[in-house]
Formats: sequence, C-alpha cells, structure tokens
Amino acid sequence: MKIGILNTGNVGSRLARAWAAADHQLVLAKDGEDRKIAPLLAELGDRASLGSFEQAAQFGDAVLFSVYWPRADAVIDAVGSALDGKIVIETMNPLGVTDNFVHFHDHAFMRDNSTAEYLQQRLPRARVVKAFSLLAAPVLEEAAWSSSPSRPNVFYATNDQEAGQVVRRLIEDAGFTPINAGSLQAARQLEQLGVLLHHIAEHEYNGDADLIRLGVSIVEAIPGPIVRERMA
Ligand SMILES: NC(=O)c1ccc[n+]([C@@H]2O[C@H](COP(=O)([O-])OP(=O)(O)OC[C@H]3O[C@@H](n4cnc5c(N)ncnc54)[C@H](OP(=O)(O)O)[C@@H]3O)[C@@H](O)[C@H]2O)c1
Repeated sequence: MKIGILNTGNVGSRLARAWAAADHQLVLAKDGEDRKIAPLLAELGDRASLGSFEQAAQFGDAVLFSVYWPRADAVIDAVGSALDGKIVIETMNPLGVTDNFVHFHDHAFMRDNSTAEYLQQRLPRARVVKAFSLLAAPVLEEAAWSSSPSRPNVFYATNDQEAGQVVRRLIEDAGFTPINAGSLQAARQLEQLGVLLHHIAEHEYNGDADLIRLGVSIVEAIPGPIVRERMA
C-alpha cells in the first residue's frame, strides 16, 4: 500500500519503519528540519522517499497525520485539498506545550471535542480514523515487545467502516492488535484515557521516564467464563 507520513517524528518514524518492513511504500514528510530524518531515509532505502506535506498526502492511499497539536492547523493549511478522499490515520492528543517543553492537557477543548473530530471537521472529505494515540512512541517498535508473549492493543475509532478495515490491517502490519472503539466521537474517550495514563505514569510509574511501562497496561487480558447474576 502507498502510505504518506505527515510528520516523521517520534511516532511517525516508528510506524514508518514498521510499515516499510511490512512491504508498504512510503513518502515521509517532516515538520521541522528534513535533515533529522536523513538516517531513517537511508535505513529504509527504496521503500521510502522524502516529500513535502502536500506530496506525502498526495502519495498515500492512507496517510498518517501525526503532528503536534499546536501545529495541526498549519499542517492542514499546507496540505490543502491533497487529503480529500484519503484514509487519514490521526494520532494526536490535545496537548499544549510550554517554552520549556512541558506538556499540558487542553481540558477545555476536551470537554466536548477531540482532535479527531476537529480534523474531520477541517478536512470534511477525508476519511479520518483515530489510532495509535495511547502507546508511548518508544513502544511502537517491534523490538520493545520481542520478549512479550502478547501484543498490545491499539484502539481505533472512525465513522468510516471501510477505512476502519484498512487501518485494522495497518495496525496488524505494525505488530499490534486492533480494537474497534466505535465511532469517531469515541476519540473523546480515547483522548481522556490518554490523560488518565499520564496520571498513572506520574503516580505509579515515577513520571514520564517510565511511560514505556504503560504499554503493558493496554494489553488485553481475557477472563474465564463469568456468570452474570441479576441483582434481586
Ligand atoms: N510521542 C509520543 O509518545 C506520542 C504517543 C502517542 C501519540 N502522540 C501524539 O502524536 C503526535 C505526534 O507526536 P510526536 O511525538 O511524534 O511528535 P514530534 O514531531 O516527534 O515532536 C513534536 C515537536 O516537538 C519537538 N520535540 C520532540 N521531542 C522533543 C524534545 N525532547 N525536546 C524538545 N523538542 C522536542 C519536535 O522537534 P524536532 O522536529 O526537532 O524533533 C517537534 O517540533 C502528537 O500529537 C502527539 O500528541 C505522541
């Protein structure tokens, strides 16, 4: 499949590597300095080439939209109509950032909106699917799970069932278990879950340094048969 990576950052570079290994063809765009992804492009060889946001959007049948939330509008403007009709896999969390690179959640925005719904509203002809927003970028690598008996779940949410099926396969190709969380509006709950995971990281896992362990908390565990008794 042809995939455009709209922003080859912490998340985009991991997924680019995984999808290239699964024989997909990629165009990588970087928000910021292109030189930072030169080593990745060299590593991926003829599986990937460098492009602008617009070129990566035009190239992909599916396009990863994985940019910093404060940069979302600028990137949407740069892409223009190139995402019309495309499957757009959206990974964002509504995080602001201070000058010292300290992140904070935009709770006011989250009350009745999500980055996924916002993107769909800005790109009405795109087929937006929310996915990959919960696992910390370092655990989006195959190597992180090499000694694990099971693969972590990746939740996705969309109003476009056909696009959802394509994204299911791409989640599997990246080495994870796809879990359908429902309509695009469920992105609100997924983004709230992201807030909860940050709280857990802080209070249980000693801060962001241990965020990697959060991947483990999203592994599915299926209990044995449960007898559901009605309360009298
Ligand atoms: N990172 C994660 O673990 C993660 C997980 C799930 C979802 N998401 C979401 O996915 C989207 C893309 O995230 P991303 O992390 O892949 O974005 P990114 O493009 O890697 O980083 C966003 C911006 O922050 C800068 N930056 C990154 N790390 C930095 C650091 N340690 N110190 C100073 N500046 C730094 C980047 O600068 P350079 O261009 O110079 O690198 C870039 O301008 C975001 O909306 C995010 O909320 C992220």
